[in-house]
Amino acid sequence: MVFHLNTKNQTDDSMITKQSRVVILTGAGISAESGIRTFRDSDGLWENHRIEEVATPEGWRANPELVWNFYQQRRRQLLNVEPNQGHLALEELENHLENFLLVTQNVDDLHERAGSKNLIHMHGELAKLRCEDCQLVETLMEDQHLLDAFLYCRQCDGRLRPHIVWFNEMPMQMPEIEKALSECDVFVAIGTSGHVYPAANFLHIARNHGAYTIGINLEPPENVHFFDEFIQGKAAEILPYLVQKWIHD
Ligand code: OAD
Repeated sequence: MVFHLNTKNQTDDSMITKQSRVVILTGAGISAESGIRTFRDSDGLWENHRIEEVATPEGWRANPELVWNFYQQRRRQLLNVEPNQGHLALEELENHLENFLLVTQNVDDLHERAGSKNLIHMHGELAKLRCEDCQLVETLMEDQHLLDAFLYCRQCDGRLRPHIVWFNEMPMQMPEIEKALSECDVFVAIGTSGHVYPAANFLHIARNHGAYTIGINLEPPENVHFFDEFIQGKAAEILPYLVQKWIHD
């Protein structure tokens, strides 16, 4: 189903031109059709765990084995999933535009595997690990890096932790994101529930600076009424169609 809310200025075919400055925010919904579960499923649990258990510094301190095993499972899962038509459509859009930034809350690597280049992982990356002591960050995805045993830093021997932004930690590259939001002409949020800040506030920053705002989601998100336009449906079905329309019209 496709419908529009707040249609004061409904998208016309030339809404996005080659010169438009476009910022896209993606969330778990864009990877759903690649087989990665979203966070806020009806049971309120993330792969059978409470978020506080596996996605907070306190959870890591209380039970590092559990948290490590949890992320090792998520890291191994990356080997079995592929980008979908939604990821691929965003790569095509990027190729068409001169000024494009993709900000993702997702920690999977499906955007980069689809070919996206100007990409910020604001909540970190599963493929990377970080030393708790010297903060060295490395991509470690060989077989020997995906086992259940803890790994240690090759530089200082400190214990490695997931390179993930947990609740109560600072998202990455915020100044760069905020600058792009304040300068963009069009902001599009895709597959995100609008529950988690600061990402949920990007819509308001872009809007307050005059951007046209579009939401694409399976269900109306928390902040749906603030979008100029909302399109309801699956990202992998809607995006190929929309991107073709934006590029060719
Ligand atoms: P959520 O799980 O909160 O929301 C995913 C949204 O995607 C929901 O609103 C679904 O309706 C929608 N959705 C599901 N399938 C879809 C599809 N095929 N196409 C389009 N939309 C679909 O995930 P996020 O908003 O990404 O943070 O969650 C934000 C952050 O909360 C995550 O980055 C994570 C989590 O705690 C950290 O790990 C730090």
